[in-house]
Amino acid sequence: MASSHLSSIIAGLVLVVLLTKYLQRLFFHPLSKFPGPAVAAVSHLWEFWHDWIQDGTFLEGVADLHKRYKSSVVRIAPNHLHVNDVEVYHQVFKVNTNFYKAPYFYEAFGFATSIATITNPHRHKPLRTTIAGMFTGTAVDGMSDEMYDMVRKATDVVAARSSKAGNQFNVMHFLRCITTDVSCELIFGETLDLVNNGYYSDRFLSNLDTFVENVWIMVHAPWIAQFALMLPNTLTDKIVPGYAYFREQCIQWIDRVRARRAKGITQMRNGRPTLFDVLLEDNPDKNYKVPSNSDLIDQAFLFAIAGTDTTSTATTFAIFFVLSNPRVLQRLREELRGASAIIKDEYNYREVRKLPYLTAVIKESLRMSSPFPGRLPRVVPPEGMQLNKKFVPGGTILSISSRVIMDDPELYPEPEKFLPERWMGENAKSMDRNMIAFGKGSRSCLGTNLAWLKMYTMISTLFSRWDLRLVSPTGPKLDYRDHALIEMKSQVVVEILKDHWAN
Ligand code: HEM
Repeated sequence: MASSHLSSIIAGLVLVVLLTKYLQRLFFHPLSKFPGPAVAAVSHLWEFWHDWIQDGTFLEGVADLHKRYKSSVVRIAPNHLHVNDVEVYHQVFKVNTNFYKAPYFYEAFGFATSIATITNPHRHKPLRTTIAGMFTGTAVDGMSDEMYDMVRKATDVVAARSSKAGNQFNVMHFLRCITTDVSCELIFGETLDLVNNGYYSDRFLSNLDTFVENVWIMVHAPWIAQFALMLPNTLTDKIVPGYAYFREQCIQWIDRVRARRAKGITQMRNGRPTLFDVLLEDNPDKNYKVPSNSDLIDQAFLFAIAGTDTTSTATTFAIFFVLSNPRVLQRLREELRGASAIIKDEYNYREVRKLPYLTAVIKESLRMSSPFPGRLPRVVPPEGMQLNKKFVPGGTILSISSRVIMDDPELYPEPEKFLPERWMGENAKSMDRNMIAFGKGSRSCLGTNLAWLKMYTMISTLFSRWDLRLVSPTGPKLDYRDHALIEMKSQVVVEILKDHWAN
């Protein structure tokens, strides 16, 4: 009797504490002056609902909030604002910014010490300056022949296969084989040879898919993920699918680089060191010391993801939208056919990237695809900031989703339309300022030059060599979800109508 009385008192107290907390968040919190749903003001349920329950509809959700509350700033969690304002973007994402990456998000993905997820700028800088040399414009120009050879080989393989087994192929599968082989060569000095062996000849990509599919478990239930990571791999795989295999594969790759280096071989046949040759050597000038094995696996994990699906997704968007727009297809074909001397006869990347319409097609594809479409949360510095003439205290989480900016009709009239011309002519310079697919500032994409090389080479080769027809999807847009990376739902299938390079 006494114990049930005590339980009622405890339950009552808990209720009072919770109610007080919720009322404080709703009416007296420094962010309560910003509009947003009550559920978001008091809890993380709004984010959880869109990420997990609705399976990646955060972007539709925030776009709806900005519209519903007619405000460029909305509250999406007790301490989290979402902003739709490109000028605030430039204030936050700049060189030497003091808006640092938010640990709640970046440290949750299971590779917290990687160059992209590390939140402490003093730990980030030595890493970035140590490997930046591999990704400069000049370094990437030096990879252009190998890139072209890889794409050319991939088209040969598909052409040979399609003459036997029908002439349709899945674009994303095809491109992933190329980007994965190129990335693995650059990072570890070996490939899975997916271009020759075909899609899913290895478990790497299917496990990557499984990991991305389940990625929100890591962010919304970090304690489950942390617990899972302490278990044997077979059990980890049940709780955080794909993760254990992916990590295991990274360990094997790193071990093989170590074994090669132990034999005194510290660079590849092309005369260049791989990324891991650089990461496995102290660099006192840059204040870089080879980190623990677990930190190295985090780097491998990040690069294996960052270097592959980002570029193949953006290129899949390019192929879909070009084939869906006969006028664009016609203009691109004309430009490429006129440039066969620098594409088919002898690939010359420096010249190819000067082709104006191809360049505009790539920019518009990056705008439409934005492979990291959703929030990239930052922490407001201690001194706070002003948003819409209201003070935002230091420590607030602030997110700006690239998709929301790149769908802004003020910046991109008729944003749902694929219009490469918008990147040409008088406005080209001001348009480039707002090309945010690769981020901006100190934490912008390190692989930007490489991504351009891959996209130029894949798109110029495919549309020069083949006349293609879009088989599916037949609707006006591609279906995808925000799983931190884009998770494609549509399968883009094309048919080869004519091979202009067939012997
Ligand atoms: C179309 C292709 C790509 C797009 C749109 C893209 C986009 C981005 C974006 C938006 C970020 C910043 C993320 C954030 O603020 O949290 C980023 C970071 C990064 N990307 Fe890319 N990326 C692409 C391809 C690549 C490739 C091919 C590589 C390299 C192999 C790469 C390596 C990286 C790295 C290392 C970072 C972290 C940089 C740092 O924090 O210092 N990316 N990327």
